[in-house]
Amino acid sequence: MGHPEHGANEEIMTEQNRRTFIKQAAMGTAAVLAYPASTVLGANDRVRVGMIGVGDRGNDLLDQIRAVHGAELVAMADVYSRRRDQAKSKVPGIQTFDDHRRLLDMKDIDAVIVASPLHIHTRHFLGTLAAGKDLYSEKTMTWSIPEADKCLAAAKGSKQVIQIGLQHQSSGAQTDARQWIKDGHVGKVTQVESWMSRNTPHGKGQWVRPVPSDCTAQNVNWSAFLNGRPDRPFDGYKLINWRLFWEFAGGNCAENMVHQIAWIMGALDLPLPTAAYMSGGVFSEKDGREVPDTMVVTLDFPNMVVTWQSTFSNKHYDMADRILGSDGTLEHHFEEPLEYWPEKTNRPNGESAKGSSKNQDHMANWIDCVRSRGVPNAPPEIGYRSAIAVHMANLSYKNKRRLTLEEAKAITPEF
Ligand SMILES: NC(=O)c1ccc[n+]([C@@H]2O[C@H](COP(=O)([O-])OP(=O)(O)OC[C@H]3O[C@@H](n4cnc5c(N)ncnc54)[C@H](O)[C@@H]3O)[C@@H](O)[C@H]2O)c1
Repeated sequence: MGHPEHGANEEIMTEQNRRTFIKQAAMGTAAVLAYPASTVLGANDRVRVGMIGVGDRGNDLLDQIRAVHGAELVAMADVYSRRRDQAKSKVPGIQTFDDHRRLLDMKDIDAVIVASPLHIHTRHFLGTLAAGKDLYSEKTMTWSIPEADKCLAAAKGSKQVIQIGLQHQSSGAQTDARQWIKDGHVGKVTQVESWMSRNTPHGKGQWVRPVPSDCTAQNVNWSAFLNGRPDRPFDGYKLINWRLFWEFAGGNCAENMVHQIAWIMGALDLPLPTAAYMSGGVFSEKDGREVPDTMVVTLDFPNMVVTWQSTFSNKHYDMADRILGSDGTLEHHFEEPLEYWPEKTNRPNGESAKGSSKNQDHMANWIDCVRSRGVPNAPPEIGYRSAIAVHMANLSYKNKRRLTLEEAKAITPEF
């Protein structure tokens, strides 16, 4: 199917040809020569993108994708009319749907960005791949371990290019950490400590959002939001504040630990944790939330322990990751260059250093790979490993005991 703005030559290209062409164009000139030059440059190299779930994060991603050269946002699906209206005012001409399946039916969409609540990620992940479209899916990859297994298997059986929204995998600090560890500057690592912290005014719980007055049963496709969770009358508070409830969310491990554990796993090439323990509770504001606001997570790996701790009642130490090695220490603060200090015991002549690798644009990295059919910086397998760590920690908290990987996998997830 041609697009009006593509010009006459483009009109005769079928949609299948256009897709194949985008793939071939990146592979070499032989493919390029198969088409007249006028259809090769400009319009033809655009990647047509749709979005599913355009709320807070979705709006950030909408701005990001619109800034990527050669990508065109053409459609979005969201269950809430306010979100569709917002998108229409930002992107004139965008097609909107209240049911993501209509968007996936669109033949001329190449790639889909998913930023829906956690409990719907798997449906949108699998649906996008089944529709033959490339995928950018927000973290955490899935709501549960069985879903993570399903998504990883589907990804492995698919030719689609998949990026998980773990944007710190595209950071210069990740590049530098991998390089310095590989070069032996850090030595043997037996411990990693990691934390993130926030604060809010007294009486105001972290993450709690006001419910807009137009958030009503008439304006929301409520059953699509529930996505198989027990049916009930419309509840605007849960739609807007899904993060606070286990049936839709994974608490702060799914919201924030996932970024840091993925960064650590990526830097050190870690396998799945062998065991997890998480203590904590709802201590900061008792506002009806189920997910804890304070926690300490211990993740066991072969010959290494990784801890992650978090509070919503003090942000003095902000967030960081420290990789502690026999030969050196790495300290990572988001958005800042990686820092290195030698351990004089084993590297007496070593010198401290600051990372200099540049951050990459995570969204642009995905679109580049959509063209080249390359592997993006945060493929499903790091999405999977980090998701399993999140779910092991949460299951340990819910079951009030340390769980091995095998024990965690044997637990049937409950809403
Ligand atoms: N990578 C990051 O740094 C980052 C930052 C924030 C959030 N996130 C992730 O982004 C996701 C969304 O978070 P958010 O804060 O934007 O939530 P949100 O509630 O603001 O947005 C979710 C949107 O999805 C819509 N929606 C709900 N059910 C839907 C369905 N079945 N089909 C289509 N749309 C549906 C909602 O109406 C809403 O507009 C989460 O997975 C979150 O963890 C990632």
